Amino acid sequence: MCGIVGYVGDKQALEVVVSGLRRLEYRGYDSAGVAVIADGRLDVRKKAGKLVNLETLLGADPLAESTTGIGHTRWATHGGPTDTNAHPHVSEDGTVAVIHNGIIENFAELREQLTADGVHLASDTDTEVVAHLLARTLPQAAGNLTEAMRLVCRELQGAFTLVAIMTEDPDLVVGARRNSPLVVGVGEGENFLASDVAAFVEHTRNALELGQDQIVTLTKDAVSIIDFDGHRVEPSPYSVDWDASAAEKGGYDLFMLKEIAEQPKAVADALRGRIGRDGRLQLDEMRLDDAALRSITKVIVVACGTASHAGMVAKYAVEHWTRIPVEVELASEFRYRDPIVGPSTLVIAISQSGETMDTLMALRHAAEQGAPTLAICNTVGSTIPREADAVLYTYAGPEIAVASTKAFLTQIIAAYLVGLYLAQVRGTMFADEIGRIMAELNDMPQKVDLVLDTVEPVRAIARELAGCSSVLFIGRHVGYPVALEGALKLKELAYMHAEGFAAGELKHGPIALIEEGVPVVVIVPSPRGRALLHDKLLSAIQEVRARGARIIAVAEEGDERITPFTDHVIRVPIVPTLMQPLVSTVPLQVFACEMATAKGHDVDQPRNLAKSVTVE
Ligand code: G6P
Repeated sequence: MCGIVGYVGDKQALEVVVSGLRRLEYRGYDSAGVAVIADGRLDVRKKAGKLVNLETLLGADPLAESTTGIGHTRWATHGGPTDTNAHPHVSEDGTVAVIHNGIIENFAELREQLTADGVHLASDTDTEVVAHLLARTLPQAAGNLTEAMRLVCRELQGAFTLVAIMTEDPDLVVGARRNSPLVVGVGEGENFLASDVAAFVEHTRNALELGQDQIVTLTKDAVSIIDFDGHRVEPSPYSVDWDASAAEKGGYDLFMLKEIAEQPKAVADALRGRIGRDGRLQLDEMRLDDAALRSITKVIVVACGTASHAGMVAKYAVEHWTRIPVEVELASEFRYRDPIVGPSTLVIAISQSGETMDTLMALRHAAEQGAPTLAICNTVGSTIPREADAVLYTYAGPEIAVASTKAFLTQIIAAYLVGLYLAQVRGTMFADEIGRIMAELNDMPQKVDLVLDTVEPVRAIARELAGCSSVLFIGRHVGYPVALEGALKLKELAYMHAEGFAAGELKHGPIALIEEGVPVVVIVPSPRGRALLHDKLLSAIQEVRARGARIIAVAEEGDERITPFTDHVIRVPIVPTLMQPLVSTVPLQVFACEMATAKGHDVDQPRNLAKSVTVE
């Protein structure tokens, strides 16, 4: 949530900052702003609405030339998305400008103190207090912005990334980080700060991780890091393994379309190099020994949104392969219910961004209870994998569209690999069984490719149904989380009522929603793999059809028994039951994308949403 960029170097800061914001806009897009220092004063422009509004403003009212600047794209928490509430915020004396991601929880108290001291606050934001506090602390910090930042951060509660510049030292950018993301890009004669490497990857692929409660000071030639106690911290460098083109549309109209199309490659990359020389499965980072994994008696998956649906899919496979009970819990609920977690509970956090605050907090809660933790994550070096005991990266490449697609498929792959790894360590499967499943997984890039080759008719169905007010999705077994994911995609993108149900639950309530013409998307299990479930789903189709529903079935090739009872059939290739989500989800992504397009919505940046939810 919120995209942050800071730059100091030889280039025009405005150009670097605005192009960085363009790459970070997926993080929040209800207002944007920039600030530079020129001729000893701050020059600031900010505008409500998408980045393009700010760019138009800058066209009409150009900013002064400068080689030091900061920029922000916002997802509003405190204060509506107005010009005034947009960041940067400037201290009353006009010397310090600040941008922020996160929530300062004690802001009301700080605001009250400032008001009592006669400070006039111009906005409704929690961020503005920091600008005033920094300016007022600078004398006590002997004019040193880093020290002022350190002192102020110690007074703040909550989650925050802050980046500040000041007129007294125009070649300096200072950032601070607690719980919200911030990375450093190290260039030649220039340095960068950003919420995400995407902002600077076109300039440098050399990055530094920032830890919890750290402050970083950038000049054009140096980067130094201290912690909130003032101790020097050695940076942890890493290299970004993708280039700027991976974060561009590459000829597609939408990032979402590109990311849907990238799924065969993403799945292949998620599987690559998983078998070591000894023929055994391997994870990326393993700080848990086999003995610890053998003593596991329960697995809890914590995740949000689409990632939680990946966890739900994985539950079926992991329980089957390991015989360990698997619970899947929304991360936002986990730590507030006093969960039963201890050293024999493996807690798996699934997160594309590795930053989702609820997931991070759930992971920390689990670790505090002594549970071993494992992260399944797409963003290398992000907070969740850094804090977990073991890590499996999904290697899907940057996912920019707010609605998750390729991350979902690769999260399922990764969770399956974890299941197989546990089965290997615990001896619940023979090596040849694991080998057979790996072979099935290795077939999946080609199967997903087949789906993409045949998905065109889905677009016509989506356009036909775009006028409906509601769409229901039903499935059973692994088709149930697929139904939830299909409905979530439609809510996110088409802003319409969409619900996913376990088909067996229909008669316990949801069937009351059926009336003439309501579309029901049915994820049909294989008649070969799950014949009994196939029969039961056929009955469910009859029941809703008898009440006027329009049936859109997602069914495997050759399943002709369903044809007479459907209005449309979307065909997917024949795959083993546990692999079905990897093919049946893809048409639902296309369905939602096309319906949103038909309704004229912004598919990549749906209203009210943000890709990376870094507040609780
Ligand atoms: C947001 C995104 C979703 C995503 C969820 C969890 O809501 O819009 O697409 O599934 O966050 O994000 P994570 O990065 O933890 O997977």
